[in-house]
Amino acid sequence: MDFKEKVDLDNLPRHIAVIMDGNGRWAKKRGGLRIFGHQSAITAVRETVEAAAEMGIEYLTLYAFSTENWSRPATEVSALMQLLVSTIRKETATLNKNNIRLQTIGNRDSLPAACQRELLEAIEITKDNTRMTLVLALSYSGRWDIAQAMQRIAQKVGQGSIDPNQISETTVAQHLSTAGIPDPELLIRTSGEQRISNFLLWQLAYTELYITELLWPDFRKEHLYEAIVAYQRRERRFGKTSEQLTK
Ligand code: IPE
Ligand code: IPE
Ligand code: MG
Repeated sequence: MDFKEKVDLDNLPRHIAVIMDGNGRWAKKRGGLRIFGHQSAITAVRETVEAAAEMGIEYLTLYAFSTENWSRPATEVSALMQLLVSTIRKETATLNKNNIRLQTIGNRDSLPAACQRELLEAIEITKDNTRMTLVLALSYSGRWDIAQAMQRIAQKVGQGSIDPNQISETTVAQHLSTAGIPDPELLIRTSGEQRISNFLLWQLAYTELYITELLWPDFRKEHLYEAIVAYQRRERRFGKTSEQLTK
């Protein structure tokens, strides 16, 4: 089935978020080590970024490493960090050529120094690109994000620049790490798990969830088109009735 033709280009999500899950199981099925799954996932990342940019998606956020992932075996964590550094180093020129801007969300200070340097360089090189923003969630969790926003709001209340009675949903959104980025309309999770795993808790309030049994290393452009088509068939009611929407 060719899903690309079925995508309605006038009704694209502006922002797609992806929980890239299933690398370990993909490797295990092939008798390999978990890190083999992570290495094999780079093709899926490249295809998804390319397909999203070609289609005209404005923001693509990829959950690459969660706060909780620090609890994995040290060998896996360090292999993931090395893979991150080598991938950023290899792919920055391509991102730049394709007019894609790189950003990160998450606790960047907690990443190894080499990762931070590589990321900051790639962010600087691509900062004026306008076709699509690729957001990597690294050492990220939704609760971390909300807590850091609360800290910054509380500091401003202390300094007198925010009146506590004026704190609104907009104030909160402006202090989250995603400030300035629209909430995702579509969240894709691979590997069949039906949970959010501490991803964008605030931002996903009205996001359409799309869960596929595919393991992340098998994800290709066609699967992104398929997810977008499924999204476009949904009725997004935002609490209203169906009748109100068709009026
Ligand atoms: C997702 O794949 C990648 C990261 C979380 C870094 P997993 O490593 O979680 O793979 P499974 O879920 O164990 O198969
Ligand atoms: C979520 O996957 C985090 C990322 C994809 C980076 P996990 O594999 O860590 O999630 P759980 O532990 O199964 O919920
Ligand atoms: Mg997993």
